[in-house]
Amino acid sequence: MRAVQIVNLEGPERALALAELPEPAASHMLTPGSGVVVDVRAAGVSFPELLQSRGAYQLKPPLPFVPGSEVAGIVRSAPEGAAVRAGDRVAAFCVLGGFAEVAVAPVHLAFPLAEGLDFAQGAALILNHHTAYFALKLRGRLAAGETVLVHGAAGGVGVAALQVAKGLGARTIGVVSTDAKERLAREAGADEVLRADGPWKDRAKELTGGAGVDVVLDPVGGDRFTDSLRALAEGGRAVVVGFAAGAIPEVKVNRLLLNNVEVIGAGWGGYALGRPGVCRDTGAALDGMIAVGAVRPLVGARFPLERAAEALQLIDGRGATGKVVLELG
Ligand SMILES: NC(=O)c1ccc[n+]([C@@H]2O[C@H](COP(=O)([O-])OP(=O)(O)OC[C@H]3O[C@@H](n4cnc5c(N)ncnc54)[C@H](OP(=O)(O)O)[C@@H]3O)[C@@H](O)[C@H]2O)c1
Repeated sequence: MRAVQIVNLEGPERALALAELPEPAASHMLTPGSGVVVDVRAAGVSFPELLQSRGAYQLKPPLPFVPGSEVAGIVRSAPEGAAVRAGDRVAAFCVLGGFAEVAVAPVHLAFPLAEGLDFAQGAALILNHHTAYFALKLRGRLAAGETVLVHGAAGGVGVAALQVAKGLGARTIGVVSTDAKERLAREAGADEVLRADGPWKDRAKELTGGAGVDVVLDPVGGDRFTDSLRALAEGGRAVVVGFAAGAIPEVKVNRLLLNNVEVIGAGWGGYALGRPGVCRDTGAALDGMIAVGAVRPLVGARFPLERAAEALQLIDGRGATGKVVLELG
């Protein structure tokens, strides 16, 4: 099969190479001896693959390896008890190995692809939307009627967070850096969009009648974190999801005490991948949101498999709007 491997750790320009490899067996590292085998039609491209191309991600497989955490395609084979059967359309989270014509996912992370979503949208669904649901609902306790501010709101996690927040009945404020990203955030369902280089904290306060927002979801990090805490209402929660801007913020904990606010970490993979029940429940919740039209992955850029390096460079250059996918076949 054709696949793209990471062959060195020199970054997105030089680390990737096209290879001809044997097809994988029906076994996944999370569920040895068992796995759903997928004929891949689209593979999602995300921040972790960019970090992997530099050896900067927590998961560091020996070189060379096939990156790619999520795919959509047609099930080739599935074990007893799986939610999908051979021939079904599927969205699957494979952790690694997705940048290939054939990939394997654990049974609990292979979901029937909802009617109305194409393969590219299926490849854009799991990482970002499961993360968004985990971060907003399970960690941030976001409730209907509350207001959430989403940083990086036109990025992969950001778009998913806007949609999932809508599905949870929340009011949404997105923070973005450009006009194009503002349009995408609105398309994703943002009720309000603010600029990252403007007075977003003060505007967020104004938009909530001076009270502040209930939840901030932050996949960006960097120097805006203290203002995120200042933007919270009493009892508010700032949910830490990632550090796309590079710098890991530090918090003066007196700020938590002053306004009775919380900082909450949300690491989806480390929590959910080993908990099949959480994965299935989240999949079911998202299916409900897809059915009512709240969740619909927005695909911003499509590349053929052999141009995976360009896909990573687009993310690296802060140029991605919505999800970046590789299309196969
Ligand atoms: N905790 C978890 O379980 C989990 C799961 C998935 C992803 N993540 C993490 O979440 C973060 C975001 O992932 P993503 O897929 O949403 O990425 P993305 O699609 O590239 O979006 C990230 C956004 O961050 C903003 N940003 C600000 N400064 C940036 C910079 N210097 N370089 C790049 N982007 C910058 C950009 O928005 P503006 O230009 O509008 O500011 C961009 O749209 C990553 O750190 C990723 O590893 C965590």
